[in-house]
Amino acid sequence: MIALSEIDQARFGIVIARATVKTVAEREEALAFCARHGVELLIARMPALTPFLGQPLLAEGALLTDTLCVFSRASLPEDALFEAPADIVFRRASPKDAEAVALLAARAFHDYPNHYWADPNLDRDACNAVLPDWGSRLCASDGKTVSWIAEGEGNVVGFLGSDCGAPDVTHLGLGMVEEDWRGRGILLDLLRCQLSFDASRGAVRTLYPTQLWNMASLRCAVRLGYIPMEGYHTVHHWFPARSRPSAG
Ligand SMILES: CC(C)(COP(=O)(O)OP(=O)(O)OC[C@H]1O[C@@H](n2cnc3c(N)ncnc32)[C@H](O)[C@@H]1OP(=O)(O)O)[C@@H](O)C(=O)NCCC(=O)NCCS
Repeated sequence: MIALSEIDQARFGIVIARATVKTVAEREEALAFCARHGVELLIARMPALTPFLGQPLLAEGALLTDTLCVFSRASLPEDALFEAPADIVFRRASPKDAEAVALLAARAFHDYPNHYWADPNLDRDACNAVLPDWGSRLCASDGKTVSWIAEGEGNVVGFLGSDCGAPDVTHLGLGMVEEDWRGRGILLDLLRCQLSFDASRGAVRTLYPTQLWNMASLRCAVRLGYIPMEGYHTVHHWFPARSRPSAG
């Protein structure tokens, strides 16, 4: 499965395609697609179970930029008591929260080592703008995204945004907590809000992808009974025919 990524093209000013590659044939199809469309950077996600899929690209100088672990849990109501202090208010996000969420994300994810940031060819400011932009888009009332805000002392101090576009499964997206408010159970309670909502809308499963190095995030998944289901490597393959942008 491969497509040109307009959003990445707008962010970085080059032709970028994103692919999920699960077989050798899909890898070859992806490379042929890139040749046809003048792609400069291919961002390919490949099951970690089959590392050989990425090896020919790595041998040509592609970068291994990220490893994701995807956890899964049945969407049952969470009856555990909320853990965060009682003066923290949990509510649904709305488009009015977009700016505060983007600012929170800019702080929480500054120089965050995701697959964009791990690629030294990409502009640092553009990398740092990716997750704030995603956070603000997750506040949209588009009938697809569902997001939660934790409010402390009248400010947005925590956020969790998800894709609920499919009837049976929720894909958790972005989770973050303001630095001074961490370690109080806020992310766990945001996850409980989402699990209860998923149960009420009849979703069967909630999927929780996170970086393999992110111990805080991994521990939150384990604390709530999520089970590791799949692992993915992300590979950035630059095509040599075109010159690369200079990193800022
Ligand atoms: C990840 C993050 C959202 C956690 O938020 P939080 O509200 O502090 O988390 P909680 O207080 O609910 O903690 C939940 C569990 O994670 C553990 N944890 C929290 N921070 C941790 C850290 N820095 N290292 C290891 N474990 C940590 C806690 O110990 C707790 O488990 P425990 O109760 O069994 O001890 C927060 O650290 C953050 O915003 N980080 C930057 C952005 C980020 O990495 N987001 C996740 C992207 S996938």
